Amino acid sequence: MEMAKMKFAVDDGSTNVKVSWLEAGEIKTLVSPNSFRKDWKSAALRKDKKVSNYAIDGMKYTYDATSDKALETTHVDYQYDDLNLLAVHHALLQTGKTPGPVTLVVTLPITEYYQFEDCQKNEANIERKRRNLMRDIVLNKGETFRVVDVEVMPESLPAVLSTLMDSNCNEFTRSLVIDLGGTTLDMGVIVGEFDDVSAIYGNNEIGVSMVTNTVRKALAFADSDSSYLVANELIRRRGDSQFAGEVINDESQIAMIYERMDAKIAELGKQVVTEAKKFAKNPNRIYLVGGGASLIYDAVKEAYATLGERVILVENAQLALAQEMCLYHADDAHSEADISAELATQDAIVEHEANE
Ligand SMILES: Nc1ncnc2c1ncn2[C@@H]1O[C@H](COP(=O)(O)OP(=O)(O)OP(=O)(O)O)[C@@H](O)[C@H]1O
Ligand SMILES: [Mg+2]
Repeated sequence: MEMAKMKFAVDDGSTNVKVSWLEAGEIKTLVSPNSFRKDWKSAALRKDKKVSNYAIDGMKYTYDATSDKALETTHVDYQYDDLNLLAVHHALLQTGKTPGPVTLVVTLPITEYYQFEDCQKNEANIERKRRNLMRDIVLNKGETFRVVDVEVMPESLPAVLSTLMDSNCNEFTRSLVIDLGGTTLDMGVIVGEFDDVSAIYGNNEIGVSMVTNTVRKALAFADSDSSYLVANELIRRRGDSQFAGEVINDESQIAMIYERMDAKIAELGKQVVTEAKKFAKNPNRIYLVGGGASLIYDAVKEAYATLGERVILVENAQLALAQEMCLYHADDAHSEADISAELATQDAIVEHEANE
């Protein structure tokens, strides 16, 4: 008997893959960092440590969380190459579900998804991405999921789908969505409750990796592990001095590392604001999504001071896109209206609790 096909929403960004799926009516999400290197790892000594060795077309790859030889995934071609296939499969295997046939909803950066000239779908890119993800991959001493169908969505904009539906905006409201990821800054202007997408913007040069690279260099200077993963974790947990003490070997350099990090975060904020102001001068609202959202929130709020509370840092900014795609595609028989009704009920519950 053919096993029931599972469906996963996968926001396969250049630095992290975010997976979202429904389990017993509940939405589950995980983040799987991209950190792969060539060749295989030897078997782990500890039984509870799994080694993930893969082969694609005879090429050997392994997942290596702290390797300083991790392969770069921060370029646009990543969307269509071995590493993307690897990253998606590795993420799926982290869900703990038994491998079987799956259908996927994945993402492409706005600038890859749409044609620059006319804002129409770039069917060639979409097809290229689909094909790439339907290729074979082998997990040494294990099983992988079999991808039977792939649907592609644009990054960023769908992340605010239910937030917008619930926000009582009118058909003239112009919402600016800013998505700051690992390597790209994507923006779009949504009119009304998704009545229209009036403009899109993508920049492959602005991203959290600017800060990551600075922190990596500073870490190397302090004789410490300077993999992307550790540097990213240090940025994410920048208020956590215990964690800093654990990963920075030369403690006398901790202050220097933080100084460099803060300066770079400020620079990043400035760059995002400059681009945003050029792109959308007077939006009615701004939504911030993507892993870098919290890093630039203050800068954006300051730049659009008149909007006040209408500059919104979306909850679970890094996961929002995967979660929204999951809800949206949860069940094809399930209409958008059902989903927003469901979310409205959830909000009512939250409000109710708040009133108590
Ligand atoms: N709360 C946080 N504070 C600071 N940085 C964070 C936080 N959460 C995630 N990040 C960092 O944000 C970066 C980008 O995360 P995200 O998953 O949005 O990128 P991506 O989708 O892989 O990149 P892109 O969209 O450019 O392809 C990562 O480097 C991650 O470590
Ligand atoms: Mg992203």
